[in-house]
Amino acid sequence: MKAALSTWSLVSSLCFLLAVACQKDDAVSPGASAAATTTTATTNGLGALPLTVTAPADNASMAAKINLGQALFWDPILSGSRDVSCASCHHPASGYADQLDLPIGVNGQGLGATRRFHAPNDIPFGKRNTQTLLNVAFNGIGVDAVCNPVTAPMFWDERAQSLEAQSLLPIATLEEMRGHQFSEAAALDSVVSRLRRIPQYQQQFAAVFGGAAPITATNLGKALACFERTLVATDTPFDRYMRGDQTALTTQQVQGLNAFVQSGCQKCHSGPMLSDYQLHVLGVADNGKLTTSDSGQNGTYAFRTPSLRNLAATAPYMHSGVLTTLADVLRFYDAGRGTPTSANPHVPRNSLDALFPRTVTNQQAIIAFLGSLNSDTYDKRVPAQVPSGLPVGGNIQ
Ligand code: HEC
Ligand code: HEC
Repeated sequence: MKAALSTWSLVSSLCFLLAVACQKDDAVSPGASAAATTTTATTNGLGALPLTVTAPADNASMAAKINLGQALFWDPILSGSRDVSCASCHHPASGYADQLDLPIGVNGQGLGATRRFHAPNDIPFGKRNTQTLLNVAFNGIGVDAVCNPVTAPMFWDERAQSLEAQSLLPIATLEEMRGHQFSEAAALDSVVSRLRRIPQYQQQFAAVFGGAAPITATNLGKALACFERTLVATDTPFDRYMRGDQTALTTQQVQGLNAFVQSGCQKCHSGPMLSDYQLHVLGVADNGKLTTSDSGQNGTYAFRTPSLRNLAATAPYMHSGVLTTLADVLRFYDAGRGTPTSANPHVPRNSLDALFPRTVTNQQAIIAFLGSLNSDTYDKRVPAQVPSGLPVGGNIQ
């Protein structure tokens, strides 16, 4: 990913507009009726993203809360060993993902594809490929462009719901942010007491949440979620095309869109996020860096259909990060040439999803079409410092 900082002011004014739009929408929770009016009719279940983001009724968006969430997102004080922030794995230079097959959290050093463990090391790799946070505000959105931020599915196996709930989980996970400093049960309380000792957080939490003890785990989750809802990229060539600009896609991209539909991709990759947010068994191979097989949702080997937006940021692909390029992904789908095959010895062929593509036509055009789902106009700002005074973003130099 390139860092186009020239779009900085455009992007921040866009964020401001979105923040205002969120506030306006909060009253209309949880359905996003305003959103539906800004989206053109869907084609084959595909459509543009809404231009506004919906926040839960009890977590309205406001500038001071976004700023607090941004500080927390970049502050390694949230990690046991004070060396990892959310941005260590979700960095704007990598499209809010990390360019790795499996993530490196605690005891890691560096950023993006060159991030590695310090030696000696007893921390395992993260279990699954890092998801991008771009457009995570729209997780769960349906073909009707309605999304409910309270029940929004999170993770490859959908084990969490809502950004508010999700954001506290990495803090308590050993290999992501917790390390050996404290037990899983004590992690959140320990981090909250650290925050309570930092004057700038005392001021910022009080200004945003008020009350006698504003620094709580719940409010930490709310601030992080509020910031994450500003990380949107809704102006791709695909969105412009779906909103009526026939010139937004090239001839090859339109051919690719048709081949995508003909190959049955949109049976699962549907709606404005190009995901049905359902779980499907595809038999993707495990990552050899792990010592045990990843059996997905409740041992079923089902994983969530990922969004196909911003694929430039999410390589290498799949829950295990084992497919390096989009050409590899299309070869994976096409491998059985009419009879789907499983690439995972733990997944028998007869348990593969009934919607598994049979053959994939015009693969070059499909790749060109998927390119129309990238956007470079998102918030890439890196704060100059964080309230703890620790290195911004953690050990990412
Ligand atoms: C060590 C790397 C790492 C760190 C640090 C990290 N994440 Fe993640 N994040 C991941 C991985 C890996 C996944 C997917 C995990 C899964 O599905 O089991 C993920 C998933 C997510 C998701 C779900 C996205 C979706 O579409 O479902 C959100 C939201 C998120 N992270 C936010 C955060 C926040 C907020 C923080 C800081 C409090 C954070 N992450 C810290 C690696 C990391
Ligand atoms: C049966 C539902 C289904 C169909 C049909 C389907 N996919 Fe997928 N797709 C998924 C699921 C589920 C995953 C994640 C699988 C995993 O990681 O184990 C996925 C992953 C992907 C990824 C990787 C995204 C990332 O960020 O890692 C791409 C790209 C992709 N699919 C493109 C396509 C294309 C192109 C087609 C049509 C040829 C297609 N898919 C058909 C369900 C489907």
